[in-house]
Amino acid sequence: MKKSIILIGFMGAGKTTVGRCLARKLGLSMIDTDYYIEQTQKMKISEIFAQYGEAYFRDLETKTIQHLIKQGENYIVSCGGGMVLRSENRDLLKTLGTVIYLRVRPETVASRLKGDTTRPLLQGTDAEEKIKNLLTLREGIYEAAADVQVDTDGLLPEEICVKILNQI
Ligand code: S3P
Repeated sequence: MKKSIILIGFMGAGKTTVGRCLARKLGLSMIDTDYYIEQTQKMKISEIFAQYGEAYFRDLETKTIQHLIKQGENYIVSCGGGMVLRSENRDLLKTLGTVIYLRVRPETVASRLKGDTTRPLLQGTDAEEKIKNLLTLREGIYEAAADVQVDTDGLLPEEICVKILNQI
């Protein structure tokens, strides 16, 4: 097994919470790519999207993974939901470690993210429809990017964490 573990999946899939659990159990540092980008840019994700656009944010995601590869250390990495949209990023993630796809149903995402104002791609009317459409578009990309796929619906973060540890 490659030693870094990378969590991918849709917004609201629980990547950060599950990542913290894995980091604790494995004694590894946890990197949340959204948090890393916000800290290094000193801006919120929503401000980066509003001021510079999505493509600029995607460049920052690529640079983040390149930086982690360069560090040469083992991490638990929780990725922003769109990290795998670029094929370059999918290749970089596989170089970095074992990629785990946390699969979640759109209804679960909609109820978890009800009223959320931090995700630029889900703002405006009919967030539920946006979630369904985006998830349909992305499902195959997440699957292609992953070494391991985990169904998470109905499971607590701790249970997902244990399920991952049993599968890798
Ligand atoms: C995005 C997911 C977000 C964040 C940005 C874009 C996406 O991260 O990177 O709003 O395109 O799916 P989370 O998956 O942590 O919400």
